[in-house]
Amino acid sequence: MTISANDLKDKRAIITGASEGLGFAIANLFCKMGADVFIISRSQEKIDAAANKLQSHNTNIHTLTADMSDSKQIQHTSQQILNKWDHIDILVNNAGYAQFGPFEEISISDIQYLINLNLMSTIVTTQSLMPALIKGKASIINLSSYYAHRITPFRPGAIYTMCKAGVSALTKSLATELGPHHIRVNAIAPGMVETDHMKQRMQALSPVAHNKTMDFIGEYYPLQRMGTPEEIANAALYLASNASSWTTGLIMHVDGGAANT
Ligand SMILES: NC(=O)c1ccc[n+]([C@@H]2O[C@H](COP(=O)([O-])OP(=O)(O)OC[C@H]3O[C@@H](n4cnc5c(N)ncnc54)[C@H](OP(=O)(O)O)[C@@H]3O)[C@@H](O)[C@H]2O)c1
Repeated sequence: MTISANDLKDKRAIITGASEGLGFAIANLFCKMGADVFIISRSQEKIDAAANKLQSHNTNIHTLTADMSDSKQIQHTSQQILNKWDHIDILVNNAGYAQFGPFEEISISDIQYLINLNLMSTIVTTQSLMPALIKGKASIINLSSYYAHRITPFRPGAIYTMCKAGVSALTKSLATELGPHHIRVNAIAPGMVETDHMKQRMQALSPVAHNKTMDFIGEYYPLQRMGTPEEIANAALYLASNASSWTTGLIMHVDGGAANT
């Protein structure tokens, strides 16, 4: 089975955190391949702007706003989706946020936020949408991170790492549990991807930290560069499409080879 131009035609996909970055790139490619989408983020203005950019693909674009760190808002949002769609073909649990800094300095409220957004949101969104995911024999794609599997000594981020390791473990576990429902559950573990946010973060680094990061990429990423959002979207397309029909429980490293160094 290969991926053809209209592979996602009339498929129903939900992408969280889709107003920019990887989520938007995934939504854009899915719409280009014919999918109808629900895209979700916190800001009405940003999600409307994203929807406008997707209009040219002539598929159905629905927007919702929710703070995905809040389980009650996720449940409310999921109910709105279920009211419209009785089956879902693809769920991309993408909304997430990386916070780095020394462990002893991170506040309890920041820890709680990171856990809620990066881990709980994937759990609660998936659980809230289960009836429609079962009906759609869905492909669920979770965004993990190479930080789940690899530590960068000069860039501590223990809580983010823990959350994404949880996402990877949840992916494998749910793949086993939901397989009998014909639901596939896979994860993408990206390395550093040059989103607008990443560019801003890099610009905000001190010259020393910036150089260290670039040296790190040169030394530990065999392909010696950051990825692009489109390269992550291509991986998501494979996992969403029938081309991966016998693939479940996979943690797909899309990281220029960094997981192996
Ligand atoms: N970029 C990378 O290098 C990289 C590497 C590994 C893994 N990842 C993972 O990939 C995923 C996407 O990352 P990204 O780099 O594309 O992020 P990004 O550029 O910062 O975009 C984040 C998206 O999520 C939304 N969002 C943020 N907080 C939210 C919240 N509390 N509730 C709902 N929506 C929220 C944002 O929109 P609003 O502001 O409107 O809410 C935006 O659409 C994350 O899970 C991240 O951990 C990224």
